[in-house]
Amino acid sequence: MKKKVVISGGTGFVGVYLTSLLVKKGYEVLVLSRTLRPNTAAVSYYLWDVSSGTIDEKAILEADYIVHLAGESIGDTRWTAARKKAILESRVQSTTLIGNVLKSNAKKVQAFISASGIGIYGALNGKGICTEETQVGHDFLGKVCEEWEKAADGIASLGIRTVKIRTGLVLGNKAGFLQKMIPIFKKGLGAPLGSGKQFMPWIHIHDLCAIYLEAIENDQMEGAYNATIEDSTTNSLFTKTLASVYNYSVWLPNIPAFVLELILGEMAVIVLTGRRISNHKLLHLGFRFHFKSLEAALQDCVKSKD
Ligand SMILES: NC(=O)c1ccc[n+]([C@@H]2O[C@H](COP(=O)([O-])OP(=O)(O)OC[C@H]3O[C@@H](n4cnc5c(N)ncnc54)[C@H](OP(=O)(O)O)[C@@H]3O)[C@@H](O)[C@H]2O)c1
Repeated sequence: MKKKVVISGGTGFVGVYLTSLLVKKGYEVLVLSRTLRPNTAAVSYYLWDVSSGTIDEKAILEADYIVHLAGESIGDTRWTAARKKAILESRVQSTTLIGNVLKSNAKKVQAFISASGIGIYGALNGKGICTEETQVGHDFLGKVCEEWEKAADGIASLGIRTVKIRTGLVLGNKAGFLQKMIPIFKKGLGAPLGSGKQFMPWIHIHDLCAIYLEAIENDQMEGAYNATIEDSTTNSLFTKTLASVYNYSVWLPNIPAFVLELILGEMAVIVLTGRRISNHKLLHLGFRFHFKSLEAALQDCVKSKD
């Protein structure tokens, strides 16, 4: 019988790619979503509403594994107080909701795998490379990731193997950062942001989904893992490489930090700051990244439209 993987937020950028990978690998996927869609032979949809605490428990009760990706987008609109609340609660309350179903039904899944972010280390351009042991940051994203992971630890306390994937900037053409940047570069408005010296730890969507698959299949995986390429890509280098691979010209000077802060408000930290991140823990586990060079990763995005 096919193993069943529940993916919360399986309709998003990572979720769609991961669903297709899991189906190819012979899994059945059960997507937890706020909207029902037509089921297919390998993918079925189940409703939940995190804010009202309602969930179709059947999905959880049938699951062999749960991958938890759901959460309000971090980079779509300015971080007003209401937006911050939605970003935090859509991650923390959703994790707790899944945990409550598992607990009240004494249901054991083989693993609970939660998305997290490298934002957990805080946005400051601190010195040195962040490992999974590096202290949690005290800014907004640091707090969101910390609370999100604490909620996931609540599921670990039920005796369920729990993995937290601290994700860097995901590269794929269909959605996410590139989909936002390409139209800007197309208009000739691409430019380095702020000093341009801030690090931009990235990962190709193919490698990220391979890490989720590894987390499902490898019983040795437990706890937090940084999921990024460990290189020293800065925002300037990223801008230059993107322009070169996509054949766009970059003629504008760096966009000053204060302009971005005026446009984006507090959310500007996402583009103006960045730290180097170690991926040694994943490498030590035996995981091998397919896309190690930014140029190759972007070339694949141009080609494959993923
Ligand atoms: N993409 C990146 O570069 C990146 C980097 C670091 C971390 N991450 C994390 O990885 C996860 C997946 O990323 P992604 O890029 O695939 O995100 P995404 O495209 O924005 O998809 C997230 C999904 O979460 C669901 N969702 C949104 N708001 C929700 C709410 N209030 N309640 C319940 N579900 C809600 C939506 O599914 P429905 O509409 O079907 O309900 C949506 O499709 C996210 O948690 C993100 O923070 C992503």
